[in-house]
Amino acid sequence: MEKKNIDWGNLGFNYMVTDYRYVSNFKDGKWDNGQLTKDDKVVLSEDAGVLHYCQACFEGLKAYTTENGDIVCFRPDMNAKRMSDSAKRLVMPPFPEERFIEAVKEVVKANAAWVPPFGSGASLYVRPVMFGSSPVIGVAPAEEYQFRIFVTPVGPYFKGGAKPIFVRISDFDRAAPRGTGDIKAGLNYAMSLYNIVDAHEKGYAENIYVDPATRTKIEETGGANIIFIDKEGNLVVPKSGSILPSITRRSIVAVAKDILGMNVIEREVFVSELGDFVECGLCGTAAVISPIGKIDNHGEIIEYGSMDKMSPTLQKIYDTLTGIQAGKIEGPEGWVVKIC
Ligand code: PLP
Ligand code: COI
Repeated sequence: MEKKNIDWGNLGFNYMVTDYRYVSNFKDGKWDNGQLTKDDKVVLSEDAGVLHYCQACFEGLKAYTTENGDIVCFRPDMNAKRMSDSAKRLVMPPFPEERFIEAVKEVVKANAAWVPPFGSGASLYVRPVMFGSSPVIGVAPAEEYQFRIFVTPVGPYFKGGAKPIFVRISDFDRAAPRGTGDIKAGLNYAMSLYNIVDAHEKGYAENIYVDPATRTKIEETGGANIIFIDKEGNLVVPKSGSILPSITRRSIVAVAKDILGMNVIEREVFVSELGDFVECGLCGTAAVISPIGKIDNHGEIIEYGSMDKMSPTLQKIYDTLTGIQAGKIEGPEGWVVKIC
């Protein structure tokens, strides 16, 4: 199989139309058999549920090439489960988890020519998405849905790759207590757009959201969870019912505890203690681990070492996690799933 003629090393985090996508439709109470298609367009009723009441959820995972040439992906079962959880919360029929994993494999395999080669630093971003496709005019769930998985080759989410970023504490809120912050609903991102455009205009790479009820506790950013290293070298992870259960973060916790022998503390983290930590970073599929060099808390600047390179403990975690993903370090069984 000949790879596409792409400058793999200089890809940003952008969408590119690839050859195949997987589509399954839910109608008359059941999912159809699903199939690959070359058609990247979706034709919908002007009254489709997704267009009015935002009945949509999505996932994100990566496929990539390991040193020995295998195309693999990372913990797709976790994405399958989280998408089921998102669907249930939005009164959508969950796509069967086993079928989700098979569909991921099928669409990646069909687009093998788009999977960046080993060592390029790029990967194939896999985007499963589900939405209400039938007409709804009163506020109610749709009766028909489409589940789709497309792929697109991507480079780093933040320009400069693993270089420390500058972020701010946000004045807008992301997710209410008992809201939808813990699922991957499109609506959680719609409300963040104004704020991220404003942040970028002002020179910040991301917004850190705090808990809306008290505005004293750290939640997460618009597209990633946050992790800290304290003075004792512990990994500190914010705990809240309204942040997305990041698969990267849960993997980092396991790597830190079981492979690096670190102490991991999952607890509420207060804005007032930001200056007590020695390292800080974002984590997520797109972000991988992106070190935070500086946080602007309404004019008070909190710094975490150099703006040039990743801090040492995060670097160790990053090397171990990406080493497992690349097949260089043995990780827990089932994490790296071979596709072809
Ligand atoms: N938090 C938010 C709001 C996200 O959009 C993402 C991205 O998926 C994450 C966290 C990280 O989750 P994961 O590690 O599962 O990609
Ligand atoms: C991901 O990391 O997969 C995300 O979904 C974050 C962002 C691109 C929305």
